[in-house]
Amino acid sequence: MKQFSERTAVITGAASGIGLELARRAANEGMQLVLADIEFERLQTAAATLELPAERVLLQKTDVSREDEIAALADAAFAHFGAVHLLCNNAGVGLTRVTWEHSTADWQWVLGVNLWSVIHGIQHFLPRMLEQGDEGHIVNTSSVAGLLSTPGMAAYNVSKHGVVTLSETLYGELLAAKAKVGVSVLCPAWVPTAIHQSARNRQERFGVNAPVAGLSASYEERMAQAVNAGRLTAADMASEVFDAVGNGRFYVIPHRKINNAIQLRTDDILNLRNPTPLA
Ligand SMILES: NC(=O)c1ccc[n+]([C@@H]2O[C@H](COP(=O)([O-])OP(=O)(O)OC[C@H]3O[C@@H](n4cnc5c(N)ncnc54)[C@H](O)[C@@H]3O)[C@@H](O)[C@H]2O)c1
Repeated sequence: MKQFSERTAVITGAASGIGLELARRAANEGMQLVLADIEFERLQTAAATLELPAERVLLQKTDVSREDEIAALADAAFAHFGAVHLLCNNAGVGLTRVTWEHSTADWQWVLGVNLWSVIHGIQHFLPRMLEQGDEGHIVNTSSVAGLLSTPGMAAYNVSKHGVVTLSETLYGELLAAKAKVGVSVLCPAWVPTAIHQSARNRQERFGVNAPVAGLSASYEERMAQAVNAGRLTAADMASEVFDAVGNGRFYVIPHRKINNAIQLRTDDILNLRNPTPLA
């Protein structure tokens, strides 16, 4: 997708972190914005920092784990701006604990927000984006957790591996269909955002994060430390995404140091070796 200005971007999870920086970059590119988040007040405050004229931005309270709310988001975006050119399926939550301490509700929450949201985003936006006949692009936020299997985050890893394979599948299909809509997958490592405070957004129907101890607690602490120590910023992620979209690049993997771990996993698989434990 070569032209951004005067076109419309829809960004989920836009109240904070990577989503907010994607919104800022899209605004700077001259795009019209549809910004969605479950935290509406925070979204309003965040959107105000973009200093956009009211006619260039639409804010929509959306719980991305609910298909009806994604459908409503798509309806609102197309009704308001007439077209959607860039869809960033970005909202996500993290949860840290050993696999055997994930409850069913834990799995449902993380898969609902991180994976079903992307599935529903594709279902409700893509057919209309294809019908437009214009160039367009979908960016799905996965993680290096979608390429590796870091201990202590089973539901997160499963959700993000799902987003990678869903995006890869879609890439091949869009190519076969000679579509003017492309797709990229963003796979960051640690970025200092509010992801380690995801429990703030856990909807009532998914219960609450049960307190953790022992190994689960140490994973949780390490995850928070790693997020806070992340060297690349959310703005760096946005910059990599726009570069990739502009150049039609599929994999967006800003933390290149992770290549060694990806290589090691690939070698383990190809050599039928047991998985080398990640630090
Ligand atoms: N920060 C990292 O280290 C990191 C690394 C890899 C991938 N990611 C991914 O980046 C994406 C953005 O996360 P972030 O790091 O900016 O965290 P963040 O917590 O700062 O932002 C996430 C946003 O998603 C929103 N959100 C949560 N649940 C929602 C729901 N049900 N419906 C709608 N919105 C919801 C939150 O309110 C928040 O505004 C996520 O998909 C995350 O998994 C983050």
